[in-house]
Amino acid sequence: MHSWRYLIVICAIACTNAQIIPLSNYCRHVHNWCTCEPQANLVRISCLDEYAMILQITDTGNNIAMSYYASGNIHWLPRLNISQVAQFEFDAYNYWPETFFAELLDTLGVEQVLSIQFRDRSIETNEQSKPNKDEYELDIKAEDIGAKNVSTWLFSEVPMLEYFKYESHQRVLSESIFHAFHNLSTLELRLAVHHLPLRLFSSIAHSLHTLSISNPYKFHFQPALLQELQQLRNLTLQLARSPDDQSKQRLSPLFISMPQLEELHLSRATSYVNATMLRGSYNLHLIGINKNPDLSELPSELFHDQGNLTKLDLSRNGLAKLPMDLFNGLTKLQLLDLSNNRLANLSSELFTSLTSLSTLMLNQNSLTSLDPTTFGNVRSLNLVDMRGTQFYGVKLFMPFEALVCTNDDVCQYKSADWECDPQCICWVQRHTQQLSVDCRGAQLKELPLLPHTTLVQTTLKLKNNSISQLPVANGIVGYANVTKLSLANNLLSSLDAVQQLPNNLSFLDVRGNQISVFDQDFINYMTNNTVNLALGGNPLSCDCSALPLLGFVRAQPQRIQDIGDIYCSEWPDRPFQQLDVGELCPSYILLVGCILGGLVIIICLFSVVYLIYQQELKIWLYNHNLCLWFVSEEELDKDKTYDAFISYSHKDEELIGELLPKLETGLHAFRVCLHGRDWLVGDCIPEQIVRTVNDSKRVIIVLSQHFINSVWARMEFRIAYQATLQDKRKRIIIILYKELQHFEGIDSELRAYLKLNTYLKWGDPLFWSKLRYAMPHNRRVLKGQKKHAGPLI
Ligand SMILES: *[C@@H]1O[C@H](CO)[C@@H](O)[C@H](O)[C@H]1NC(C)=O
Ligand SMILES: *[C@@H]1O[C@H](CO)[C@@H](O)[C@H](O)[C@H]1NC(C)=O
Ligand SMILES: *[C@@H]1O[C@H](CO)[C@@H](O)[C@H](O)[C@H]1NC(C)=O
Ligand SMILES: *[C@@H]1O[C@H](CO)[C@@H](O)[C@H](O)[C@H]1NC(C)=O
Ligand SMILES: *[C@@H]1O[C@H](CO)[C@@H](O)[C@H](O)[C@H]1NC(C)=O
Ligand SMILES: *[C@@H]1O[C@H](CO)[C@@H](O)[C@H](O)[C@H]1NC(C)=O
Ligand SMILES: *[C@@H]1O[C@H](CO)[C@@H](O)[C@H](O)[C@H]1NC(C)=O
Ligand SMILES: *[C@@H]1O[C@H](CO)[C@@H](O)[C@H](O)[C@H]1NC(C)=O
Ligand SMILES: *[C@@H]1O[C@H](CO)[C@@H](O)[C@H](O)[C@H]1NC(C)=O
Ligand SMILES: *[C@@H]1O[C@H](CO)[C@@H](O)[C@H](O)[C@H]1NC(C)=O
Ligand SMILES: *[C@@H]1O[C@H](CO)[C@@H](O)[C@H](O)[C@H]1NC(C)=O
Repeated sequence: MHSWRYLIVICAIACTNAQIIPLSNYCRHVHNWCTCEPQANLVRISCLDEYAMILQITDTGNNIAMSYYASGNIHWLPRLNISQVAQFEFDAYNYWPETFFAELLDTLGVEQVLSIQFRDRSIETNEQSKPNKDEYELDIKAEDIGAKNVSTWLFSEVPMLEYFKYESHQRVLSESIFHAFHNLSTLELRLAVHHLPLRLFSSIAHSLHTLSISNPYKFHFQPALLQELQQLRNLTLQLARSPDDQSKQRLSPLFISMPQLEELHLSRATSYVNATMLRGSYNLHLIGINKNPDLSELPSELFHDQGNLTKLDLSRNGLAKLPMDLFNGLTKLQLLDLSNNRLANLSSELFTSLTSLSTLMLNQNSLTSLDPTTFGNVRSLNLVDMRGTQFYGVKLFMPFEALVCTNDDVCQYKSADWECDPQCICWVQRHTQQLSVDCRGAQLKELPLLPHTTLVQTTLKLKNNSISQLPVANGIVGYANVTKLSLANNLLSSLDAVQQLPNNLSFLDVRGNQISVFDQDFINYMTNNTVNLALGGNPLSCDCSALPLLGFVRAQPQRIQDIGDIYCSEWPDRPFQQLDVGELCPSYILLVGCILGGLVIIICLFSVVYLIYQQELKIWLYNHNLCLWFVSEEELDKDKTYDAFISYSHKDEELIGELLPKLETGLHAFRVCLHGRDWLVGDCIPEQIVRTVNDSKRVIIVLSQHFINSVWARMEFRIAYQATLQDKRKRIIIILYKELQHFEGIDSELRAYLKLNTYLKWGDPLFWSKLRYAMPHNRRVLKGQKKHAGPLI
């Protein structure tokens, strides 16, 4: 066993000033039951135990780890010259003399250490390797460690030490173990002792703020032990019951008047608390009394001085009932944890004075009922956890915000204002402020009642029910606010999306229903909205009615969650989205062909008819004031003064008497020029003719034997004819007034014109319509006429 006494130094980055030695050199002398591994800037040597010391250097944050299995001989350790060590961890496998710390720090060149974690492993190692206790003691004596009492540790002074953690399985603790630690503020003890020496903390009482003792055995606290710790802010006791200690431990005198104490944690520390135990400790913010399975009741005055208390944790005790006035005066309490007790009954007065309470944990108790007024005064309460209380569905009156958790994953918003359908569970996701109504498997035949809330978004889960028909979306209060709707495994056979689905839906699940057709309306709804959809497991019919769905599936596959699960009954092997239009709807192609063919034929027919009856159509439209865009004349003639110049022979004056009133009044009124009436007297006649023809949009020729015989009239025709030839538009309107007796006198030009062009016959039943159509189509004039004609009708 002597060969185990052994020292390895693993030197890390901290050996800064030393000359550069190849890292692998460190591995040369390592014993063969250790592994040695040079890494980037560290040599890691692991032996049976991973390390014995770790130094964490304040300046650089670097760590130095050393395995240390040796006895007190430390003279050969490297001198590291470190001014301050933030944390020093030791595993001590052997006893040291009291001077050890001082010598070690001196040898390593460490000036200050802020925190030490010390693990006494002498018992573990020796018990592991040497079960025989006598041999162990003999062995230690043989090592000649020193004259000190080897069964307890003593530590020398460590400059600047603030935190000390001591772990040991020793059964005895020396009263003066910490005598050299003058300025310790935090002390953590993990012990296995049966009693604590009376003056254990005397040397550090003035500076100690935080004391934590965990010990598997109960021990008796002498009152004086803690009483001298007047500076203590934070006290933690974690004890456990000793199997051989049957007597009830009383902690009564422990905490009297510790006015600085702010935090108190007592776990497994007591099975009985004295009513005056916390008297005088006015500053407590947090009290935790947990894991005392035998603690079944609390005295009602226990918290009387605790006006500053904000958190009270009484969980994991054996509390079966609470005095009605236990929490009186705790007006600053925010969190009260009564979970994991045996509470069956809570007085309705219990919480009345907790005016700041926001969180109440009652989970894992035996509560079966609560008075509805229990939380009446606690307006600040916003979370009540009652999971695992066998307490469910009781109507509680509390402010709206209170979230009541009654099941493992379910919390229910409770308020006097709204209630949930008895077959559903309603709750609110706190972070999203979404209402969740869960009615899965409730054998519902129609939509349940939804709570009347002010929440905007609702998730409604109706999976596995017997709903066959949805109501009109506005017909049920709250339904319009549903944004996620799960209707999977119901009996729906149709869906009227526009009527029956809420407007703001973002997700719809209708898997496993009886819907055979998603019609065009539904697809329109889907296209208009941003709903995502799940629709597998419906007996889709694979015919032309599936075309809208196919189009949608192809266009926006990402919006259908279970696109791979959609099949139609005719092709159970082929995913719906892979089907072709022709397969789904063979007649569709034919139909499209027919429609196109039909359209072509109709267009042809119309064209033919139009070509044949073009003139009649236009005349009719014009006279009925329809489609004027179609018949209106270009604005080319807009600078012309007259719409028509009537060229006639004086002997046909009686016709003019009939023509003029019709042309100058009525729906289409024209400005007409007559040579007898409108010409200036005394002007040269040929010049007048030229000017008038050029100033008129039309020249109406009243053709008769008299006209042919008139020289002036023929001249007028010739001038008009020239003008027609110039601008290539039909300007001449010929009215055949009386049958011509002989054509001899007619000019060749007029004869040719008459042969090539149609003329109006006086006495034709459609004479006036044809004439009006032949006249210029002046939009402006027509509009003006309409305006004036309006009131006359
Ligand atoms: C530490 O300082 C001593 C002198 O004070 C010096 O001899 C030694 O080399 C230094 N060691 C390191 C690692 O710098
Ligand atoms: C050594 O420890 C034992 C308890 O194990 C104690 O009885 C004894 O007084 C101690 N001796 C000294 C010198 O502290
Ligand atoms: C004790 O520690 C405090 C800080 O915790 C420090 O200000 C004070 O100087 C220390 N006193 C001594 C004597 O080390
Ligand atoms: C009090 O001590 C406990 C246990 O050491 C610790 O968990 C807690 O954080 C401490 N509280 C404060 C305020 O330091
Ligand atoms: C509680 O402790 C006080 C002070 O030690 C003592 O006087 C009183 O009798 C104790 N009360 C009970 C019920 O044990
Ligand atoms: C709360 O603590 C302060 C000291 O910080 C103390 O003076 C006061 O009395 C305490 N309040 C109550 C109601 O105990
Ligand atoms: C609950 O408390 C009432 C009186 O406060 C009592 O009558 C009743 O028996 C208690 N119920 C249970 C189960 O303890
Ligand atoms: C559907 O609900 C019934 C009760 O209505 C239940 O017995 C059944 O197990 C549920 N089925 C599934 C698959 O959840
Ligand atoms: C529905 O949401 C509106 C806000 O969009 C809200 O004012 C209304 O109270 C909600 N209605 C119900 C019944 O939840
Ligand atoms: C739908 O959502 C819009 C905004 O997202 C909101 O303004 C509107 O009130 C909602 N409509 C309903 C019926 O909840
Ligand atoms: C789609 O939205 C437009 C306007 O946003 C609306 O006019 C139309 O009726 C909607 N169509 C359907 C099927 O909801």
